[in-house]
Amino acid sequence: MKRAIYPGTFDPFTNGHLDIVQRATALFDKIIVTIAKNSSKDPLFTTEERIDMIRESTAYLQSVQVDSFEGLLVNYAKQKNASVVIRGLRMISDFEYEFQMALMNRKIADDIETVFLMPDERYTYLSSSIVREIAQLGGDCSPFVPLHIEKRLKEKYST
Ligand code: COA
Repeated sequence: MKRAIYPGTFDPFTNGHLDIVQRATALFDKIIVTIAKNSSKDPLFTTEERIDMIRESTAYLQSVQVDSFEGLLVNYAKQKNASVVIRGLRMISDFEYEFQMALMNRKIADDIETVFLMPDERYTYLSSSIVREIAQLGGDCSPFVPLHIEKRLKEKYST
């Protein structure tokens, strides 16, 4: 059984992330979407809120599980018996950072492979921080995130 993990901050999970997860379901038997708790980012949503949002967004995909982790990604992958790390590549500017991370992960654990998937071109310009900014400034986020996440963003910024 081929297991893969899809790590990230997902603050919040966007349609671009969902597009990657959907593509991964065609390639792997099980995908664990996992939130990095020790990311240097200061998230708007708590880990529990993000887990809930990803679960709701991927509920129709039976092979997808949602989790969170602390510490090194490759250690977490091994703990979950996953041999593949999925990352999304949106454009050339992602490449340098992703290349460094993939090679460093390989240096630490050469039995874990990184697989890059490209989202649909409609999502190449999307990022979680851009979505947060649009929501904060009262813009329409409905083309970028699932409906229930749009609602949560509105709630966050109305308090
Ligand atoms: N659609 C929309 N946005 C996307 C996307 C897609 N398909 N793919 C990436 N992005 C965006 C994210 O929303 C995020 O945007 P933001 O910066 O505005 O928040 C950005 O691209 C990349 O962030 P993300 O995919 O969440 O990754 P990250 O860089 O925050 O997280 C980890 C990287 C968590 C995987 C990495 O830090 C890690 O492995 N940490 C664990 C510790 C470790 O092992 N470190 C050693 C690594 S060598």
